[in-house]
Parts: sequence; C-alpha cells; structure tokens
Amino acid sequence: MFEVDERAIRAAVDVLECSGLVAMPTETVYGLAANAEDEKAVKKIFEAKNRPTTHPLIVHITGEEALDHWAKNIPQNAYVLARRFWPGPLTIILKKADHVGDWLTGNQDSVGLRCPSHPWARALIKAFAGKHHRGLAAPSANTFGRISPTCAQHVMDDLGQKPKGKVDLILDGGECDVGVESTIVNLSGEKPEILRHGAITRSMLEDALGCAVPDGGQDSPRVSGSLKSHYAPSTKVVLVDNVPEALATYGDKKLAVMADSTTIEATPANVLKWFDTPNSPQQYMHCLYARLHELDKAGAELIIVEMPQQGDAWEAVRDRLTRAAA
Ligand code: TXA
Ligand code: MG
Repeated sequence: MFEVDERAIRAAVDVLECSGLVAMPTETVYGLAANAEDEKAVKKIFEAKNRPTTHPLIVHITGEEALDHWAKNIPQNAYVLARRFWPGPLTIILKKADHVGDWLTGNQDSVGLRCPSHPWARALIKAFAGKHHRGLAAPSANTFGRISPTCAQHVMDDLGQKPKGKVDLILDGGECDVGVESTIVNLSGEKPEILRHGAITRSMLEDALGCAVPDGGQDSPRVSGSLKSHYAPSTKVVLVDNVPEALATYGDKKLAVMADSTTIEATPANVLKWFDTPNSPQQYMHCLYARLHELDKAGAELIIVEMPQQGDAWEAVRDRLTRAAA
C-alpha cells in the first residue's frame, strides 16, 4: 500500500466537484466514485461501466455519524454493525432518506451504505464529505460483468483514464488488501439477511447481532453481484474436485490451473500456467481476482480451478468462483 498523496486527494475532490469520475482504492476492490447527490455524475458511472440503471449503487460515507443523512427508520442493529465493523468491508442496506435519488438506488426504497477502511478512500471521503455528510457513489471500477479490479493497473486496462479512457482520474493506492467485494447485509426488512458474502463472515455478523443471519431469499432487494454469471473472466472456468482426473479429461486442451500442485507428480505440457491454491481464505480472497486476470491472459482454452473446502470462512471465495464458472 502506498502512503496517501494529499495532492492527488485534492485533485480528486476537484474532479468530483465538477461531476467527474475518480477511481478510488478501497480495502476490498477499486471503486468508480462520483458525488452520490449529483445525478449527472452518477449517470456517468452507469455509462462508463455499461451497467443497467436498475442496479443500485452503494454510497461510501465517513462513518456512523453520516447514517441518518442517508437513511431513515434506522434499526439499532445498524449501529451495532457500524460500531463493530466500520471502517471495514461491510455494506449495510437501510431504508433510504427521502432526498436520496431513485437514479442512485435503481428505484428501490433502500440504500446501501459503506465506510471503507483503506487510507486513500478514507482521506478522499473525508475531504469530500464536508459538513453535510456528502458521500461517494461507487460500484467496483470494472465494466459490467467483468472481474473487479484489485490494483490501479486493472482499472487502467479495463476502463482507462481520459482522454483515451473513461475515468477522469485513477488514484493509485496500491493493491487492495481484502481483494473481494464487501459483505452486504440487508437491514431494511424484518430480519437481517446476507445479500453478498465477503470478508465479514456470517458467524461474525451473528456474533455481533446475537441472532441468525441467513442468506437473502427470492424477494430480497436486487444485488447485481447476485447475477449468476457475474465476475467472469473471458476464458471458460471449470471448477473441479479432483485435479488429476480433470487434467486427464482435458489432456487435449491448453489449460491454466489454480490447484494444489502436490496432487500431481509433474505439470503436464498442455498447462500454460499454474497457481497453487492459497492456504487461508484471507490469502485466497486477496489474490483471487488478480490471479483470474492472469489465468485469463495465459492464452489457455480452459481455466481449471480446484474448488476450495466448505465452511463459513470460505463462503466468499466459493461464491465468487462459482459465479466465475457460471
Ligand atoms: O466492496 C465493495 O462493496 C465495492 C467497493 C468499491 O466499495 N463496491 C461494490 O459495488 O462492490 P458494486 O456496485 O459493484 O456492488 C454493490 C452491490 C451491487 O450488487 C448492488 O446491486 C448492491 O450492492 N446494492 C446496492 N444498493 C442496494 C440496495 N439498496 N439494495 C440491494 N442491493 C444493493
Ligand atoms: Mg461490481
């Protein structure tokens, strides 16, 4: 991670004040940020990403003190979670305050709020927020349906910087620590539910709230990350349980692989690239997207990934892999 460059932060605030777009490093993935109360600026986000306008954006705020500017009928649970996990990789869905634009929330009556912990994101949001708790709308800084960016170069390669690219300013704050998008918990309904898995696990939420936090059902608010084919590389991904067997099955194809290499004696000649399975869920999340980018670039016909084990801590990794393979 690079030290915060205060001059770059000031330049970014100027861009935001003029309805421009800034790529902002966060601890999860890079976000494509605009003033969340500026309809013209928010429309540019949807255009740059090629994202349907019915998919709501989340708003990045300085912390708990900004909650009641953005939301109403806030349940006690929101404060419990904000105090425990903010700043950090958790997005909370609440009933939106009346002034929050339908053009931001995809016409839903709720809004997603998140306070990121990355020092660059914190510096930018703080410098921009001012007295009125302004916030930054920011989806992941990738073209709709592509893998999320975990370093500035990913954003450069995909959306690009003006005049040739689409983003007014790309801030380079180094590699993202967490590596997958924030956990999303819905508190706008009767009971808390998880809409997207991330580094804050179900057991951490249940421990904080003292109740069960199941996955959201069919009638939960829409989450674009819940589309089956989200986060997909352009090369086809196949998830496997048995690596030697898969290598035999696809022996006639050029392969890129992420799996435990101790399961085989030697790497077959048709394997162009091999990454070993990271040991912990945190390490796996951290490098998952960067590796999918690399595997995608290897020139293979298929990407073979060994499915990691089950269990609470692995949910986010399994979820993103399943979507990458859909
Ligand atoms: O870690 C993250 O959350 C990153 C960084 C940049 O903060 N942002 C991110 O944004 O992943 P995005 O737009 O790619 O994903 C946010 C998800 C979307 O799937 C969206 O549908 C959902 O949050 N979302 C936003 N507002 C919502 C709402 N009111 N109700 C339900 N889902 C909502
Ligand atoms: Mg996204």
